[in-house]
Amino acid sequence: MSIEIPPGLTELLQGYTVEVLRHRPSDLLGFAADYFARLRDARDQEAAGGGRRVVSFDGEPMQTESNGEEEPDRGDEDSDSDFERESPVVNRYNRRVSVCAEAFNPDEEEEDTEQRVVHPKTDEQRCRLQEACKDILLFKNLDQEQLSQVLDAMFERKVKPQEHVIDQGDDGDNFYVIERGLYDIVVAKDNQSRCVGRYDNHGSFGELALMYNTPRAATIVATTEGALWGLDRVTFRRIILKNNAKKRKTYELFIESVPLLKSLEASERMKIVDVIGEKVYQDGERIISQTMTSKEANQEVEIARCHRGQYFGELALVTNKPRAASAYAVGEVKCLVMDVQAFERLLGPCMDIMKRNITHYEEQLVAMFGSSMDLLDPGN
Ligand code: CMP
Repeated sequence: MSIEIPPGLTELLQGYTVEVLRHRPSDLLGFAADYFARLRDARDQEAAGGGRRVVSFDGEPMQTESNGEEEPDRGDEDSDSDFERESPVVNRYNRRVSVCAEAFNPDEEEEDTEQRVVHPKTDEQRCRLQEACKDILLFKNLDQEQLSQVLDAMFERKVKPQEHVIDQGDDGDNFYVIERGLYDIVVAKDNQSRCVGRYDNHGSFGELALMYNTPRAATIVATTEGALWGLDRVTFRRIILKNNAKKRKTYELFIESVPLLKSLEASERMKIVDVIGEKVYQDGERIISQTMTSKEANQEVEIARCHRGQYFGELALVTNKPRAASAYAVGEVKCLVMDVQAFERLLGPCMDIMKRNITHYEEQLVAMFGSSMDLLDPGN
């Protein structure tokens, strides 16, 4: 019996294999799904006559800056290399955007030849932007040049109460940093919508769809008047994703060694690496601050010391209560930090282990003070 190999199969698999060897992804299946979906989108877009590298912003004042290199002349016959080079058409306020045929080459060492997006800003705007971005974890590992390109590309967006900034299920257009305002996070599942959290004048959202090429995972609704800074998809992927590839290489082994995270799948651990930011503290510096609830509680006693691979700061997030202890750096300390929304989204599978460990805190308190409180009782 002769088996006929369909035309194109060999090239298809070779193309995929080359990409795997170049990027060495930890999640082969996820990478394959992403790779082939993009390839199909690229083909469809080409068939529809699209596919040139365009960044358009609805006629809003915007400047693009080339880094001086001429765009290389591309032949149309090499669809694999088109896959590598094409960028999406991005439209800032149309939520349904084309996300086709996007470059996915975070490891690429060569000079990037993408056009740079620059939204001119007044000094006053730049100050406000810098203030809003100073604690954004996704920006923490950027070098100075990358950060300044990101800040240049960001644009201001004012929002009104009840305005939907993001709708679940849409394609991702922008990443947002909050300058001010309250925003509800609403997730619809099994025909039911539930508010799963809230941003209160700080933080950022909208990174997931851009990072993983997935539909928006939640609806974000402003509940007050507010101000945001947006970053377009192309710039986000060009700079933040490239940086995340570096972060993955740096932290992969360390994250694998953290006992708390052992029960997670490798791909889940990588998602943690994607959202963490590095923070360095000097000897004696306060990392988290206990919220004092009574006058007697004003004398500080060391109750425990954490070392490499251990964690702290989870108690208030698990119990929804004020910080029950302060943490200080002993010597220079480097922490990997994630925000509360990522904590809730990604560490659900570790919740049992954390709760079990919280009972050890209670034992420590009994040993130190002869009495304890039920740390896990939210009504406490
Ligand atoms: P994205 O999916 O691009 O758009 C919706 C955003 O809501 C998402 O990225 C996250 O930034 C944010 N978000 C916060 N909490 C959650 C959650 N529990 N599930 C999904 N998205 C969340």
